[in-house]
Amino acid sequence: MIEIQSLGRDYVRGATLTVLDNVSFSIADNEFVSITGPSGSGKSTLLGLLAGLDRPTRGSVSIEGQNLNQLDEASLSRFRGSRIGFVFQNFQLVPTLTALENVSLPLKLQGLADADSRARSLLERVGLSDRSDHYPTQLSGGEMQRVAIARATVISPSILFADEPTGNLDSASGDNIISLLLEQRSRCTVVLVTHNPELAALADREIRLKDGMVEEIVSHRGGGRSAKGKNSSKAGSKKAAKKRNSPSASKGSSKVTRSRQSVARKGSRR
Ligand SMILES: Nc1ncnc2c1ncn2[C@@H]1O[C@H](COP(=O)(O)OP(=O)(O)OP(=O)(O)O)[C@@H](O)[C@H]1O
Ligand SMILES: [Mg+2]
Repeated sequence: MIEIQSLGRDYVRGATLTVLDNVSFSIADNEFVSITGPSGSGKSTLLGLLAGLDRPTRGSVSIEGQNLNQLDEASLSRFRGSRIGFVFQNFQLVPTLTALENVSLPLKLQGLADADSRARSLLERVGLSDRSDHYPTQLSGGEMQRVAIARATVISPSILFADEPTGNLDSASGDNIISLLLEQRSRCTVVLVTHNPELAALADREIRLKDGMVEEIVSHRGGGRSAKGKNSSKAGSKKAAKKRNSPSASKGSSKVTRSRQSVARKGSRR
């Protein structure tokens, strides 16, 4: 369970710029949540705070009952290393390491003995066994993103965060990434930032940000209704608050699953 309470983030550049304010919601274990909103609305900032990559100015993030604010850097880093996978929009692979070394790195940082064999099996799962000795510059964009997903999932995280993972990819590569993400949702909580409405609608819920605040939380369970449908709820209303705070059943119906697969096939055209 991720609990976000009155979260805010300011940047001080001469004047104070508030990029997130009063954001509160919770995400149940194994839920799949998408985060959408216009460019600059605070999606990446929010994701960074949820994953403990950044510290909030106000409010708190608790994961599995642990308030991240209460952890010092070393403890936070250990916490992230054992539970959290993060897929960056621009991959952020280590340029001096091969694909295999990039994927095994999180395991080696934890001192695990079978790091290489686990990393190899993850690379195989993302279809890149024959690229394991390639350095990032010797990989295509889609391949780099698959390595990034393998690296984020090699620790079997309880939460996977992905920031626009299909953003720079052609539709075939995007499809591939979506399938990999959908595979993860049976194993862990998935929080996905995307500009793609079809991809956002695959999630159990979609959190829409506007100007650093939650504008709306839309439930897509039960057939992927639009924001204007009866499952939509305006943030700020009592009903919305109740909905936000209620743990949610995580799995969709078979109908939803089918629609997920078909949208996944249609891919990530932007
Ligand atoms: N380090 C920083 N210092 C100052 N302002 C920042 C910093 N990082 C982000 N911002 C500002 O915070 C706002 C939100 O940025 P953020 O990256 O979260 O937006 P986003 O919703 O992810 O946008 P996009 O869809 O373009 O990725 C932006 O206006 C951005 O300029
Ligand atoms: Mg962003």
